Amino acid sequence: VALRSGSGNARPMPAIGMGTASSPLVPETTRDAVLAALEVGFRHFDTASLYGSERPLGEAVAEAVQRGLLAAREEVFITSKLWSMQCHPRLVLPSLLKSLRNMQLEYVDLYLIHMPISLKPGPTVFPAKREDAMPFDFEGVWREMEECHRLGLAKAIGVSNFTTKHLDKILAAATVPPAVNQVELNPVWQQRKLRACCAEKDIHVVAHSPLGGLKWSGSEGNAVLKSEVLAEIAKARGKSIAQVALRWIYEQGVSPIVKSFNKERLKQNVEIFDWELTKDDHIKIGQIPQKVVNTANGMFSPEGEFTSVDLSDMEFF
Ligand code: A2P
Repeated sequence: VALRSGSGNARPMPAIGMGTASSPLVPETTRDAVLAALEVGFRHFDTASLYGSERPLGEAVAEAVQRGLLAAREEVFITSKLWSMQCHPRLVLPSLLKSLRNMQLEYVDLYLIHMPISLKPGPTVFPAKREDAMPFDFEGVWREMEECHRLGLAKAIGVSNFTTKHLDKILAAATVPPAVNQVELNPVWQQRKLRACCAEKDIHVVAHSPLGGLKWSGSEGNAVLKSEVLAEIAKARGKSIAQVALRWIYEQGVSPIVKSFNKERLKQNVEIFDWELTKDDHIKIGQIPQKVVNTANGMFSPEGEFTSVDLSDMEFF
């Protein structure tokens, strides 16, 4: 996928990426999973300062280069994210520099604002306390994201978990518009309205939780992997439910970030490029009742951690 950038030197993003958020984080397990992912063909990895996986990811990439699994670091596309406690203009560049140090890298391919939420500066704790929420200086923070880009430390810059309203605030402030909005997106939460808005604004959509993976308190378990509609299609195509979900996302022009630390499932997850869904499959998936599986549920609901966040545009379709 070609991403836009101010300097024009954004690197193409491989269509599927591996997620590295894992709880609890075991560095060796994460490093081994990234190496296994490289072996089965993943060339795109997603991390964040919040996840604690930057260090093992960087170690795995270095080891892969050393072993000859990768000819050079340039063969992988790496995304990291600015956590909410660092969503203050003066903390953006230091935070990226820290992420780069963690990964032993000179640049990230993509740097995202993790959430449209600014929290009181301090050590990263999660979930955060609602009293820590602060007004978000979109203009100031984005200006510093642009500076990271101008310095060549982030080949492309973007946002994550932004609604259409948040995007408007960034676009109003931007000289370099966001290349990407990474949001929860899967057959059960298809984000039609947000996708239409991003298409119009030339913002590439990346899907986190493509299998409905993350669970927040109050969520009902995995509505994607338990979907009967997807199960039926999977059976007819001789594929797994996960593969049908990932293929559907890919056919929507969206790039899934899928997390598995299991080699068999990692392999399965990249085997989505040599077959297709039918028109009828698309109709059936289009009719799946929509509900947000995790993020908005856990973070933006009235009972969630961030009640100060404007809920009025959380209906994306
Ligand atoms: P595991 O790491 O044991 O493979 P998401 O990417 O939506 O967050 O979903 C991640 C969850 O889905 C993880 O629990 C992961 O478990 C599981 N998962 C990943 N790939 C597959 C697959 N191909 N089939 C079934 N479950 C999968």
